[in-house]
Amino acid sequence: MKRKKIVAGNWKMNMTLDQSIELSNLLINIKKPNVDIKVAPSFTNLYLLKKQFDFHQIDVIAQNVNQNSKGAFTGEVSVEMLKSIGVNCVIIGHSERRSIFGETDKILFEKVNYATSNNMNVIFCIGEELQQRDNGNYFDVIQKQLEIGVFGLSTYQIKKVTLAYEPVWAIGTGVTANPDQIQEIHQFIRNLIRERFNETISDLTRILYGGSVKPTNAKEIFNLADVDGGLIGGASLKFADFQSIVEAADV
Ligand code: PGA
Repeated sequence: MKRKKIVAGNWKMNMTLDQSIELSNLLINIKKPNVDIKVAPSFTNLYLLKKQFDFHQIDVIAQNVNQNSKGAFTGEVSVEMLKSIGVNCVIIGHSERRSIFGETDKILFEKVNYATSNNMNVIFCIGEELQQRDNGNYFDVIQKQLEIGVFGLSTYQIKKVTLAYEPVWAIGTGVTANPDQIQEIHQFIRNLIRERFNETISDLTRILYGGSVKPTNAKEIFNLADVDGGLIGGASLKFADFQSIVEAADV
């Protein structure tokens, strides 16, 4: 089954408005129709970049969203707000949201459940910490994150979800998981989706890898059987690096 590759840049808390415009002026030149290209700027830059990328190939997505529709939640942003500016996809469950902001599997399920039932696409991140990798219980960790985070969704909802396997020890560290480690987990995830949902959904679901993807390792990672692209942090802030990573996904 051939799934279209995704390359998504997560800018995290980087880029002022001017810097975002500068980078997006370069990004609009990328034309790779075989790749779904996404960038996730901060909330303050979403609306402008959405306009900037109008009529271009790049999809602008959010880095976070609240699980409620509206109300007294100071500092939060709703699905409805994102949709009102034309943003139709959001990253949920990034390890930084889990570890720094205390978002539990249960909260993450509420977010994914609310977003997908309101027609929003989600990139849902999972991944083990270094100690869990060293202990050898990383399969259990990932299975639990999936069971609580997304396996309670309906068939309709799961079709709106792209998964991103991001071993925490590989994020921002320069240490990339090796191809065997990546394929092993991606295959494991795809098998779990087949058991929980069905063969068609498991074939359709795109599973990205994230964690120190760079121009030098992107091709090898993207060529793995169950890898459907990447979630890119640091390298998405540099135009030349991001461009080569998109090119590596163009197969
Ligand atoms: P990195 O980040 O590419 O800088 O390792 C990946 C991510 O956090 O999604």
